[in-house]
Amino acid sequence: MASIESEIRELKKKHNAVILAHYYEDGDIQDVADHVGDSLFLAQVGKTLDAPVVLMAGVVFMAESVKLLSPEKTVLVPDRRAGCSLVDSSPYDKYLAWRQAYPDAICVSYVNSSAAVKSITDVCVTSSNAEKIINAIPKDRRILFGPDRNLGRYISKKLGREMILWPGACEVHILFSAKKLFELKEQHPNALVIAHPECDETVLKYADVIGATSRLLAEVKDNKTTNEFIVATEDGIFHQMRKVRPDAVLVQAPAEGSCACNQCPYMKMNTLEKIRNALQTLEPQVNVDPKLSALARVSLDRMLAITDGRPVEWPDRFTVH
Ligand code: 13P
Ligand code: SF4
Repeated sequence: MASIESEIRELKKKHNAVILAHYYEDGDIQDVADHVGDSLFLAQVGKTLDAPVVLMAGVVFMAESVKLLSPEKTVLVPDRRAGCSLVDSSPYDKYLAWRQAYPDAICVSYVNSSAAVKSITDVCVTSSNAEKIINAIPKDRRILFGPDRNLGRYISKKLGREMILWPGACEVHILFSAKKLFELKEQHPNALVIAHPECDETVLKYADVIGATSRLLAEVKDNKTTNEFIVATEDGIFHQMRKVRPDAVLVQAPAEGSCACNQCPYMKMNTLEKIRNALQTLEPQVNVDPKLSALARVSLDRMLAITDGRPVEWPDRFTVH
């Protein structure tokens, strides 16, 4: 009997499909993907692909980004229920009311948001490019930042730039415990603490390196001053960390309680079986209403332009279209 991996390979060939996977997926999923990366990389690569079918082994907002940037492509997800607590924490109507309360501000939204929220956003960011994007906003403009308050607070303090923050959070990263991390650090005095900026500031206080998943992976690969790392992010990333640095001792940062809180329940909804089924049936597809899509795309295009060093224009005031 053919293995599920070879079935997936055959189906990819049949449909000329490409599989993208986020670092938080299980290792077996990362290994069948054509490209593995962080959310910025996945948005960038999705746009440049020649393939008519793209399967996003990640969460739905990541698939929506690919669809927004390449509306002509068929975009599949293994499980339509693979959401994100940041998307859930920013319902369109409430976000719109917040945005309308500050019509002169520039609205910056983390890509971890719905297409509807992106449609009332001036520019998106990921945790990889947030600093660069905020620095590109004229100094005299007020900034709204949502939906992740921890990323917003971290960037705001780092750049000394005041921002009005939406009160959302990642349900995975906020569960890391500062108290337990402090105790773990005492037990591993030579370890470097590396953390994703979605962690609470009480945890980030103990971090030696703060960055997006790709930045944390690069630290493990390149920092030869130590081979011990305490990792405060989702545990799917360990798969690539072990590949790039087989000698590294990787210690998971502790969460409150004894749950497997360091696993994103949405990312972990995806399985090889669901990927095979999606490629067989070309379902479930991710589609975005065309009117919404045109508006939402502006915020992603602006983000990609600034990331590439291209100039952008900013609207003077917010108006609902
Ligand atoms: P990255 O942008 O670092 O890949 O993070 C995405 C994400 O969902 C983190 O929880
Ligand atoms: Fe969303 Fe958090 Fe999961 Fe990332 S880890 S997809 S922010 S719930």
